[in-house]
Amino acid sequence: MLSCDQLRERIRQTSAEKDVVKALGLDIAPERLLAEASDQFIVRAFADGSLRSDTLLKKIHTRPIPEVGTQNIDKKNMGYELNRAFWHAKAYTEFGDKYGKPFETARAVLDFGCGTSRLLRYLVDFVPGPQYYGSEVNPENIAWGKKNYSEVNYVQHEPTPPIGCDDSAFDIIYAQSIFSHYAESLHWKWLTELHRILAPGGLLMITKEGRHLVERCKSEPETFKRLGLDRQDATSIWQRFDEDGYAFYTRYRKDRLEVRGIDGDNWGTAFISEQYILKNWTSLFDILEQQEGAVGNRQDYVIMRRKG
Ligand SMILES: C[S@@+](CC[C@H](N)C(=O)[O-])C[C@H]1O[C@@H](n2cnc3c(N)ncnc32)[C@H](O)[C@@H]1O
Repeated sequence: MLSCDQLRERIRQTSAEKDVVKALGLDIAPERLLAEASDQFIVRAFADGSLRSDTLLKKIHTRPIPEVGTQNIDKKNMGYELNRAFWHAKAYTEFGDKYGKPFETARAVLDFGCGTSRLLRYLVDFVPGPQYYGSEVNPENIAWGKKNYSEVNYVQHEPTPPIGCDDSAFDIIYAQSIFSHYAESLHWKWLTELHRILAPGGLLMITKEGRHLVERCKSEPETFKRLGLDRQDATSIWQRFDEDGYAFYTRYRKDRLEVRGIDGDNWGTAFISEQYILKNWTSLFDILEQQEGAVGNRQDYVIMRRKG
């Protein structure tokens, strides 16, 4: 299981205590850092600390950081790349342990829609054991991954299945911020495809938007504005969500998506309710757990085991 203590150990082994204190501007003696700094500060050493100090970056990370301006990364979301990615990867390893499929003993693990490999960054380094795979529609993500993560198998595919992997190939698949984007018909095609490539009893762990974000939108106009909606559109989205359990709208410029290999008609924002999942997904999966709003006070986790 991925833990903050593994990050502490990396800092200790690379004698990076002084670099961390300096990069983060901490009022703490370097020799006391590992005992006294909170987990949040230790993770920040790998995120904003490493962005501020090239020396620290080179000591504690084993790979470079993707450059701003490439792979759809801008300066603002570098924290997302390095900080939140750690907590997401940690959560998936905790679910793996909880449901009897530890990453360490899995044969093969797929990061479906791996983007810049930001979760794989921590897993490959700190949770060795499985053969890691990353899949993407975006050739730029695949090329960067292949260049920097030689131990990961990358799979490029089209926006619709098939993915080009064997039946039952994976013990664990996780998909961070993928099912939060699919049109209803496309989400079902991918759900059946992921069921096919997951081994019987294997774990599928996804994030999605749902009731938690809808309720936030109802009480916080700034939240629906950030989703590109005005009040009228937002109201019609949450009415559809209440009635059907699945509400999808497109919100990105199609031409900007299509250069990244994404199908602009079927990729936007999707809200999926807990009840919809219990009604429709249980033909393929046992739903082990749904956690609303657990991902950054916004997205929900759905943890499933393959049936059959
Ligand atoms: C919000 S990003 C999340 C990336 C990564 N999971 C992460 O958390 O950093 C969504 C990713 O899904 C990929 N994607 C787009 N269309 C897809 C499709 N039809 N199937 C699978 N992935 C797709 C995009 O290229 C993009 O990298």
